[in-house]
Amino acid sequence: MKLRTVREADVKNKKVIVRVDFNVPLDADGNVVDDFRIRAALPTIQYLIDNGAKIILISHLGRPKGKRDKKYSLVGVAKRLAELLHKEVLFAPDVIGEEVELAVNGLRAGDVLLCENVRFHEEEEKNDPEFAKTIASMGELYVNDAFSASHRAHATVEAITKYLPSYAGFLMEKEVNYLSMLTENPERPYFLVLGGAKVSDKVALLQNLLPKVDGMVIGGAMVFTFWKAQGKETGKSIVEADLVDFARQLMEDASKQGKEIVLAQDFLVSDEAKESVSVKNINDFGPEDIGYDIGPESIKSFKNALVKAKTVFWNGPLGLFEEEKFANGTREVGTFLGDFSGTVVVGGGDTANAVREMGLFDKFDHVSTGGGASLEFLEGKVLPGIAPLLEA
Ligand code: 3PG
Repeated sequence: MKLRTVREADVKNKKVIVRVDFNVPLDADGNVVDDFRIRAALPTIQYLIDNGAKIILISHLGRPKGKRDKKYSLVGVAKRLAELLHKEVLFAPDVIGEEVELAVNGLRAGDVLLCENVRFHEEEEKNDPEFAKTIASMGELYVNDAFSASHRAHATVEAITKYLPSYAGFLMEKEVNYLSMLTENPERPYFLVLGGAKVSDKVALLQNLLPKVDGMVIGGAMVFTFWKAQGKETGKSIVEADLVDFARQLMEDASKQGKEIVLAQDFLVSDEAKESVSVKNINDFGPEDIGYDIGPESIKSFKNALVKAKTVFWNGPLGLFEEEKFANGTREVGTFLGDFSGTVVVGGGDTANAVREMGLFDKFDHVSTGGGASLEFLEGKVLPGIAPLLEA
């Protein structure tokens, strides 16, 4: 998959509309709590500054449902961006209308203007062509650096590309390079590390990736659906009853294709109150037990399987890492993968949060900014925000 990137455009003195994904958590005062996605967009913004573009940034934040709502304002994001760029960032209180037009017309080469949340207009999520055209009319070029929003066919992600010459930013390029490596040409052996609570989030991903991988290790609560498929007691742990057959079929297909599947075999177990914790093996679960984190045997067998891999894609925490007493599985396997000599790509919102909280973020080759977008990409879909940026 090859993208037309901003490097190919002549941006000097041009008004460049850049779609970024600054959908970041804010505190009650509107200050940015986690600037991961803002930092990820800096290379593109800095490149445009250095090359004398007039930069108009557009983003969404949260789901304000087409209405103006202070809670979802990008004012605090503009402040954080200015700190990160060591430069003034102008702010327009809307993405269309007289005020933003005046601000755009006043831009000098290298200036940065951030517009207020584009989802304050319901036309954004409707992919409204007139709305996209109005926004496009303010600029001369369009750059999409919002990989994590590229699974949304929204006006400033998709429709706008019909009205302006369109290019990928550097974050978009990096994401697409790493994720297409995972589906097209991974160095082998290639393993998946899967966790999280639900199999249902990963059905299409598993179907698309099983033929391409050499094996997978499965932890997190999603493994209980696989245990159920093997006829094991899962207690009160999360099981998706409607996916038990899918799990059984996947294991059968994997074994026919000679792929290695390693399921977590022991867990830190407690009840709903989570007070007394013990380690239980797959054969010892009782009807009241809830598994919260993979146990020491599972960690050992995961490391044994992964040690031979050259490429790993990790999606989903291996236990309830938000609670320290159930964070060990995710931390141990994460630390192991962080020190790993092969290529490791981390995807999915929860997993990215886990590795950031555990201070492991910089140890991986790539941590995707995308939650839904990275999963849909790996399901084999051509995302609506990426299709218009493909090299002919
Ligand atoms: C995300 O956080 O995954 C993206 O910003 C997309 O947000 P959305 O799920 O509200 O479209």
